[in-house]
Amino acid sequence: MRLALSVSLFVLLVAASTVRAEADVVRTPAENYKEYCALCHGDDRKGYMNDHAPSLVTETLFVNGPITPFMAISYGRPGTPMGPYLDEIGGPMSTAEIRELAGWLALSAGFEVSAPNRDHLKPVEGDIEQGKRIYAENCVECHGAKGEGGEGTALGNATMLAVTPDSFLKAAIERGREGTPMESFAGVLSDDEINSVVAFLRSRASGWDVEDMRFEEPPDLDNIVVNPDGDPPEFDLVDNRYVMAEDLNAALEDGRRMILIDTRVPYFWAMAHIEGSFPVPYYSSGREIIAALPDDGTWIVAYCECPRAAADSAVTRLRELGYHNTAVLYEGYAGWSALGYPVSVGRIDPKKGLFLHPSAEKRTN
Ligand code: HEC
Ligand code: HEC
Repeated sequence: MRLALSVSLFVLLVAASTVRAEADVVRTPAENYKEYCALCHGDDRKGYMNDHAPSLVTETLFVNGPITPFMAISYGRPGTPMGPYLDEIGGPMSTAEIRELAGWLALSAGFEVSAPNRDHLKPVEGDIEQGKRIYAENCVECHGAKGEGGEGTALGNATMLAVTPDSFLKAAIERGREGTPMESFAGVLSDDEINSVVAFLRSRASGWDVEDMRFEEPPDLDNIVVNPDGDPPEFDLVDNRYVMAEDLNAALEDGRRMILIDTRVPYFWAMAHIEGSFPVPYYSSGREIIAALPDDGTWIVAYCECPRAAADSAVTRLRELGYHNTAVLYEGYAGWSALGYPVSVGRIDPKKGLFLHPSAEKRTN
């Protein structure tokens, strides 16, 4: 099943951009690279031209195929010199162009452009306290006492952690990044120790200084309404469908009553999500949650990663069922995080399986 999930995620990313692919790609990936990236990552893509920009030719950068680099290019690493390049959050390139660029980077470095391996979204379990000690002893000198980066990248970056699976972090630590200061820790730390440092990094996904390392459980079906006693939001929807991240954040800060649905693969919810959201993966029937929805005009906002395909399909379905106070978060989850709005980290017990089970009536996007 994991294979199917990973592949559908890849298909989603591709599907989200095919429409624009024909119309919008005016420059080749090599031209875009030269224009936008060579300044820091160098003409040879080996990095370290400016601003400690990492190498773009290492094996573990492409361990999940081009997806993680695609996310890094689209949404950037706010607070570092790596900006977001996606047009929807102020960058110069379309999804299609960035997808082509990420694929071209992989191919140019000699790696295949393939769907991620079947385990790439599997959470890494470890001892957070042990990980904290290991980080202090082995990583601080390059990655910073608060994960702010330095010679190494910013490992405490909320957007990096929101779009980067544990398996990618683990591969970089275990196998290193050849030709860079990031050496392999395979012989230095045991597998358990590497898992613990990954678990520690994940626990920082909603901020380095959070008081306790709290992982939120998904709300139960009786408690899906955020701010149950609040007034309804007054959304000014774009195309009668999309709510901008700025407006959604303002409504949440203002204590407005609504339901938030996270339509991504549940592990994405666990990596980072909007607090109070309920994971309803796009491939589930949604029957359980539809039965639990109050029938009183409560606003329902859906979001996904890609940035809209899965949430769009959920809202279409809800509107067919008569729920008209429904909206899709325009910038998607990664846009939300890259714009600096607050995020929470979740806990989904891998042993219990997915939170909602995929149904037989799998929908396409
Ligand atoms: C102003 C300098 C600068 C420019 C221009 C720039 N980058 Fe970056 N890039 C960085 C830095 C610095 C980081 C590491 C940030 C961090 O996480 O600390 C980075 C990170 C990345 C990463 C993540 C690498 C990893 O190790 O996970 C990718 C992929 C990437 N850049 C690709 C690109 C591409 C493609 C472009 C052009 C569209 C680009 N960058 C433009 C400086 C830059
Ligand atoms: C000598 C400096 C140095 C030390 C020590 C070091 N790193 Fe790194 N690390 C780097 C650099 C530099 C990079 C970026 C390499 C590249 O891709 O060009 C990096 C990349 C990474 C990445 C990939 C992050 C991304 O942005 O994609 C992870 C994860 C990571 N390091 C974790 C660790 C952990 C955990 C430790 C301690 C156990 C550690 N590193 C110790 C320098 C260091």
